[in-house]
Amino acid sequence: MCGIVGYAGYRDCTEVLMEGLSRLEYRGYDSAGIAVFEDDTIRVAKSKGRLADLTEKMQEEGRPEGHAGIGHTRWATHGEPSDRNSHPHGGGCVTIVHNGIIENYKKLKEFLLSKGRAFESDTDTEVVAQLLDYYYLNSPGNPVDAIIRTMKELEGSYALGVVFADFPDMVFALRKESPLIVGVGEGENFIASDVTAILRYTKNYYLLEQGEIAVLTAKKATIYDTHYQKIQKELKTADWDISAAEKCGYAHFMLKEIHEQPTAVKTTITPRITDGMPDLTECGITPETLLKFRQIHIVACGTAMHAGIVGRYVIEKLAHVPVNVDIASEFRYREPLVGEGDLVIIISQSGETADSLAAMRLAKELGAKTLAIVNAKGSSIAREADMLIYTHAGPEIAVASTKAYMVQIAVMYLFAFELALANGSISEAECRRLTALLQEVPEQIEHILAHKEMTQLIASELITADSLLYIGRGLDYALSMEGSLKLKELSYIHSESYAAGELKHGTISLITENMPVIAVATQTKLLEKTISNIKEVKARGAKVIVVCKESYGLEQDVADLRFSVPDFEDILMPMLAVVPLQLIAYYTAVHKGTDVDKPRNLAKSVTVE
Ligand code: G6P
Repeated sequence: MCGIVGYAGYRDCTEVLMEGLSRLEYRGYDSAGIAVFEDDTIRVAKSKGRLADLTEKMQEEGRPEGHAGIGHTRWATHGEPSDRNSHPHGGGCVTIVHNGIIENYKKLKEFLLSKGRAFESDTDTEVVAQLLDYYYLNSPGNPVDAIIRTMKELEGSYALGVVFADFPDMVFALRKESPLIVGVGEGENFIASDVTAILRYTKNYYLLEQGEIAVLTAKKATIYDTHYQKIQKELKTADWDISAAEKCGYAHFMLKEIHEQPTAVKTTITPRITDGMPDLTECGITPETLLKFRQIHIVACGTAMHAGIVGRYVIEKLAHVPVNVDIASEFRYREPLVGEGDLVIIISQSGETADSLAAMRLAKELGAKTLAIVNAKGSSIAREADMLIYTHAGPEIAVASTKAYMVQIAVMYLFAFELALANGSISEAECRRLTALLQEVPEQIEHILAHKEMTQLIASELITADSLLYIGRGLDYALSMEGSLKLKELSYIHSESYAAGELKHGTISLITENMPVIAVATQTKLLEKTISNIKEVKARGAKVIVVCKESYGLEQDVADLRFSVPDFEDILMPMLAVVPLQLIAYYTAVHKGTDVDKPRNLAKSVTVE
């Protein structure tokens, strides 16, 4: 959470920082601020609210003018969103921006108070600024020393951008746990929480590792370790284009990303299919490695966890290997029964989710092998896993995940096919058939996208609802969880997903004519059962929207509204049926006028617990 940027170069620094922050606003958007050197003075502009509020404020009060500085967009942890708590925070001659949580900030604050220091905000960040200044005053003229001293005291997670008034036009940066990259341009250098913030200016960057310190001037970016030794780092090149981070004519990033799904699936699966068969050897996965695992745990958060639930159904059905799915924040604290012989799969778009990362580290400690399914290249989870499958969704900017989920489940299928073939649960011919069908999915999604009008009508029927239920059985239940999450995060309408057969054990008491029910019915073997459950809620007055296969001949009184998805192999239906669910959530939010790409209180990359 929180996005940070920094710049030292020849351009208008305020413009570079604001452009970078606009790409990072998905990380948090409670408040924003920048600090820019105006000659040898640091000028700060900050405001509660979105970047637009900061722009407005600078129009009224004047904007900082200079060529080096730092910027921040916030997702509040310590202290309410307010001008006072917005970053940058200062302490004497030091000004900083921070992403992460300083766990021992209270102790450090007491220490600094005892030294006569006063605080202006409620944040943990201001404590770091004051501590940096405290150590800097002990050895004036040596900012890196002060940084190293401060790092020794800090517990928790941080990526920090720092400027010292005594060092005009220089930017310092350091990190532990929270991500940070150093962008390298011609006559200009950058820091950023992720590479999309600097793509407009350069594609070249260094990944800052734990405990490393970067010192930037316009001419060079130098990286040090905690012993103040220079480090030579491998220069990486982003393979994402700036257009991947632009709306390209779509009203919202989310709509663009929904439409990018066919391409994302193709780009993700094509390199992992050889001669019509799944081939994950490039990711460190061979039939021999797969045969070693007696059980699988899938651990993730949010939408990625929902992809894991689809994975469980598919792996158990095809490969007959037991799979547990866990929410990462639960897994890490419940002393899980995981050890040697187990495979722990971590699914994460960002590769930085704090709980998922901690869960993976725990699994490794317990002796399990870990496989990461990650979208963001070079992220912490990607780097630390034993085996790695990158999803190639490209940057996902909308906070609500769509295309990342799609490719996560695409990888789950490939993995399940390969495992099932390896342990003899399916024949080579069946594996080939399923793989060929998976390759047809992008075309099917295109077809759904070309006939999406009905989702708008459905959405217009939902906007007055206070609460909704999503129901389904088997894979349809897994999918209804994702549909329900999408709707509530975007439109702020309360919704729950329920296993259709479980409804009558309590939840059916909520059903009235004011509670619409969205039923997902794509699993032919379960269709009659689901229809019975639909009838039960209809009989109690609910308006029912059914997402089902084209060929299903539902009796007239079953659905008030229906969205038909093309007939396809049951086991692959989640990849098709999730599209109308995403669109229903999207259009409901559009009709309600909520902020689709940046829903209230959310952040895309949750790098704190
Ligand atoms: C946040 C996002 C979700 C995402 C979840 C896990 O809650 O808002 O969209 O699914 O984090 O993120 P990850 O990057 O690990 O997939």
